[in-house]
Amino acid sequence: MTKKGKKLYEGKAKILYETDQPELLIQTFKDDATAGDGDKKGIIQGKGAYNNAISARLFEVLASNGVSNHFVEKLDEVDMLVKGLQMFPIEVTIRNTVAGGMSRRLGIREGETLKSAVLEYHLKDDELHDPLINEYHIRALGLVEEKTLEKMEDAAFRANEVLKAFLKDRNIDLVDFKLEFGASGDEILVGDEISPDTCRFWDSETKEKLDKDRFRKDLGGIEEAYREVRKRICEMG
Ligand code: TMP
Ligand code: ASP
Repeated sequence: MTKKGKKLYEGKAKILYETDQPELLIQTFKDDATAGDGDKKGIIQGKGAYNNAISARLFEVLASNGVSNHFVEKLDEVDMLVKGLQMFPIEVTIRNTVAGGMSRRLGIREGETLKSAVLEYHLKDDELHDPLINEYHIRALGLVEEKTLEKMEDAAFRANEVLKAFLKDRNIDLVDFKLEFGASGDEILVGDEISPDTCRFWDSETKEKLDKDRFRKDLGGIEEAYREVRKRICEMG
């Protein structure tokens, strides 16, 4: 049994611990929730366990469809074993339907279906509120190498196709999602988490929000939404 070693890093929703194997880390999911880069804080009861289970399943689905990621195995309720990565300072967002930041920035109503998927890069910097950047900024600032940029783009669009199809079978529309990538030796892997904290999931029929927007927008029914997503993703096939 892998044991937790020294705490390496504590973020807003997760903690990373060393293990007795230098290349492996334990990622622990917390119930803590923040929005507006920390302006709003709260606890979503059971979120750690829901996000651990949901991420574990979605990482498995991605891996078995050719999208390499850091997931190794689920250890218990809130812990998963992952490969340690050198994270890139970039968030990669894919949008299928207009919502959130895109709706605000461009004044387009939420729910508008896009003719093709949009890929966005954001600089990971809480104080600057993760500003939108493009591939020219990434090249000019030397944030990642050209071949890494190509790999991230390919993996993100592939992840979109795989996740969209998997979720559609479970009556969930994948509105948008955010991925973070890192390097493990020569490999570029998806890291972090894939959960209702980092994706927008809408019920395909009612378009009810089943994700962190319930917390961001004070819509209530937050725990129920996370539980429902866990049920559809982890208990249906
Ligand atoms: P946005 O519309 O606010 O830019 O969010 C796009 C997607 O990224 C959405 O699925 C939620 C996710 N997201 C994060 O994972 N972390 C964040 O800090 C933000 C703002 C969004
Ligand atoms: N990740 C952002 C924060 O921690 C919030 C968000 O997901 O909207 O505040």
